[in-house]
Formats: sequence, C-alpha cells, structure tokens
Amino acid sequence: MPRLLITAGPTHEPIDRVRYIANRSSGRLGVALADRSAHDGWDVTLLLGPVALRPSDPRVRVVSFVSTADLESLLQIEFARCDVLVMAAAVADYRPVRTSDSKVRRTEAGLVIELESTPDLLAACSSRRTPGQRIVGFALEPRERLVESARAKVSRKGLDLCVANPLETMDAPTIEATLVGPEGVVDQTDGAIDKGAFAGWLLERIVARTRPAALARP
Ligand code: CTP
Repeated sequence: MPRLLITAGPTHEPIDRVRYIANRSSGRLGVALADRSAHDGWDVTLLLGPVALRPSDPRVRVVSFVSTADLESLLQIEFARCDVLVMAAAVADYRPVRTSDSKVRRTEAGLVIELESTPDLLAACSSRRTPGQRIVGFALEPRERLVESARAKVSRKGLDLCVANPLETMDAPTIEATLVGPEGVVDQTDGAIDKGAFAGWLLERIVARTRPAALARP
C-alpha cells in the first residue's frame, strides 16, 4: 500500500500559559483528503493541528500537534516513512521568541511581543527526500499573484506540485484551486468545489505523478 503523510490544521504558537498566536485554518481539506485516500487503499497518517475535526475513516492514523516545533519533530520521524507528503497545514510563519510559563499581566504600558520566523518545514523535508518521494505543498495567495507565487514556491521549496488557492479558501467549505508544477499550471478546478470533492480531484493528480513502484507496494 502506498504511504501518504498529510499535515493539516493551524499551529498554535504560545505567548504564555493561556495565550497563543494562531490562524483560521479549519483542517477540513486535509481531513477530507485523509478520508478519501484511506477509502482508496492508501496507508494514511494525518498529522493534525489543534482542531475539533477528526477523520471519519478508522484506518487513518491520526497524530496530533500543537505548535510548529511539535510538527517539526513529528516530520523528522514521519517524513522518511512516506511515499507522498501533502503539506496542507497552515504553519505559522512567525512565533514568539520568548514564552512565559505563567500568565502575562495587563498593564497600561501596552505590550510588545518579539517574533522570530519559524523554520520552513516543507523546504527541510524536501532537502532530505529520497528518490521517488513526492512532495505537495500549498500556497494561499491573493488572486493577482496566484500562479506566479506558486511557481516560485515550487522551485524555492523543491515541490512536485503546489496547490495554489486564493485567500478566501481558508476556513471555507469550498476551494478554487490551481495546481502548479515545475513546468507551470498543471490543472485547475472548475470554479470553487467542495473540499470533499477536491480531495478526490487532487488524489487523482497526485497518483498520475507518483512512481508506479511506490503505488504497487503490497
Ligand atoms: N510551510 C512550512 N513551514 C513554514 C511555513 C509554511 O512548511 N514555516 C508550508 C505550508 O504548509 C504550505 C507552504 O509551506 O504547504 C506554503 O506556505 P505559505 O505560508 O503560503 O508560504 P511561505 O513559505 O510562508 O511563504 P510566503 O510567506 O512568502 O508566502
């Protein structure tokens, strides 16, 4: 059975014991992809961020993460075991440099939180990939720069495919996607489609680009 590793959902970057920096990712797309691929016979591991949603197919192995650092540690183990990585998680680009292990108190003086950039997890996986491993990333971009930014991400992060989608996709039930490879636009959905239907659409196109030997694994 080919092995698919999916990451989904937001990250929470702690400020103190009770507060964090997050984003509006729902995890819906990654969970739909996990259900669909398990149904189609893939061996699926889903690294899932802090959301209430869970896959309905019991064959999906779910491992939870909270922060970018957690996800980084999980990928260090899990990436080597997969044939295809689909990185749908909305990983934070910045996180607080310092985290208080108590609760930051309110003062009249205001508060400045110093942020540092997070490591690029996708680029790190790409740099240690083995021949035949496939990597699919996402690009959430304003419509005007969709294809151009996705192409830049494909080459900068060493991706096989990048799902480019407009900002409205986040936290929405539908997705309007343009699939971009190193050669440019590969395909486009017919307008906005349900994320469940999109899972099947994307999986078909991933299979078309995956090494037959990996797909034939018993
Ligand atoms: N990603 C990642 N590690 C990060 C940030 C993002 O692996 N620290 C992954 C996301 O899971 C997604 C892809 O990179 O698959 C694109 O994420 P995005 O935030 O759009 O891109 P950035 O690399 O942050 O670039 P930019 O801010 O210039 O758009």
